[in-house]
Amino acid sequence: MSERPSTAPSDTAPSDRRTFVSKVSAAVIGGLITIAAPIAGLFPILDPLRRRGDTRGMVRVTAFAALPESGEPRKFPVLDTLVDAWNRTDNVPVGSVYIQRTGDDSVRVLHTTCPHLGCSVGYNAAGRGYFCPCHKSSFALDGTIADPKSPSPRGMDPLEAVVRDGEVWVKFQNFRKGSPERIAV
Ligand code: FES
Repeated sequence: MSERPSTAPSDTAPSDRRTFVSKVSAAVIGGLITIAAPIAGLFPILDPLRRRGDTRGMVRVTAFAALPESGEPRKFPVLDTLVDAWNRTDNVPVGSVYIQRTGDDSVRVLHTTCPHLGCSVGYNAAGRGYFCPCHKSSFALDGTIADPKSPSPRGMDPLEAVVRDGEVWVKFQNFRKGSPERIAV
């Protein structure tokens, strides 16, 4: 019958070392999390500064100088590059936008498609606003609904834009029609 050897001090040493290493690792990881969490929390705050002038995902639409200083909006086609597995096609018309100069280097960009059922919204210079001829929705210059009797369920769709080096860049996208919520499609 074999006797079980008694536990010698030298047998417990590796176990103690493992415990020590585990504790140190946990402390280091905990410390890193404690430091990293507040730094990560700063990114959303700093993001607008970080991204200022960032044109990723945007297309160049016009020169800023092409916009009247009076703040009158102008309509522009949006041309994009379409790429599939075999082809790359430049300057494909994908829609149009109204762009209005709102400051020395700032613009307001509105999708020209009516959020009601998708007709093309026109600009009414005399009324200083927009008007959809299909079902008579009217919109203010900032795109909000002007006439409460307008059937459009929401105002015109604003689009993200930046002015960089004298050029206006727009993040063009389409939205679901007939919905009070603005849902990108
Ligand atoms: S599509 Fe514009 S009001 Fe109906």
